[in-house]
Amino acid sequence: MHFQWYPGHMTKAKRMMQENIKLIDLVIELVDARIPVSSRNPDIDELGRNKARLILLNKADLAEEKWNDAWTAYFEGQGYACVKVNSKKGGGVKSIHSVIQEACKEKIERDRKRGILNRPVRAMVVGIPNVGKSTFINALAGRACARTGNKPGVTKGKQWIRLNRSVELLDTPGILWPKFEDQSVGMKLAFIGSIKDEILQRTELAAEFIRFMQQSYPGVLAQKYAIGEDTGVWEVLERIAVSRHCLVRGSEPDLEKAAGLLLDDFRDGRLGRLTLEYPDQL
Ligand code: G4P
Repeated sequence: MHFQWYPGHMTKAKRMMQENIKLIDLVIELVDARIPVSSRNPDIDELGRNKARLILLNKADLAEEKWNDAWTAYFEGQGYACVKVNSKKGGGVKSIHSVIQEACKEKIERDRKRGILNRPVRAMVVGIPNVGKSTFINALAGRACARTGNKPGVTKGKQWIRLNRSVELLDTPGILWPKFEDQSVGMKLAFIGSIKDEILQRTELAAEFIRFMQQSYPGVLAQKYAIGEDTGVWEVLERIAVSRHCLVRGSEPDLEKAAGLLLDDFRDGRLGRLTLEYPDQL
């Protein structure tokens, strides 16, 4: 299997990000808690140089708690502020306000020394597609927040959301494209659904996913689908098909359908909370 991205999109997205990043003090970078490193684009460290940095382990509800904590400690050790969140349900989102103040304290102090008081911190949310940027912005902004873009004196074309007296958030998130030479990174992005299934062979992907599960989470597939899983990956996929009545012509296992079902079960958390990469592997 070979995974690739489209350079045209990347260049445009990067240009937009370079424009917007000039306006902000704090980069709020969302990563997927199930693959916190593979869902980052390393360019962000260069783009976000000299900015305050906050990493959010989003979709923390889908990843194992002990690994969420291990990843938080890992990123903090690298000098980032880091918080685990569930943007969909709002978990962890409230605590962001105090973390933002803490992450930006050097800037606030610099302003104070120059006699600038109460200038709000300006923040931008960035991350790869589907990592939850829009969901997070909505969760953080809530309904009560004023969109400030239409007021006079505000940069034309830019919408800022005033979160409170001390923070403004750029309404449009920055899109980073995943970047990888290592195909195992591409594979993990495909597992979580960041690379659209139509550009991949779904059955091949499901087979690789089964291989991962057998190694890292033995017993989970056996229990979920009431099958024996100590056999080859294609046999396991067939057994899932039979167990879930994914059949063609009456009785033959429909592997394509079973693959879709398996991947959807994983992506929607129905296989339980699973983490696909671990800080002690780095
Ligand atoms: P993006 O702007 O970065 O592209 O991502 P977006 O907010 O559109 O979110 C992508 C998908 O991830 C959405 O699901 C969203 O509901 C889901 N999501 C975002 N944050 C979380 C989280 O913390 N936990 C979980 N479990 N899911 C999250 P969708 O299937 O596209 O839409 P929907 O079925 O939720 O409506």
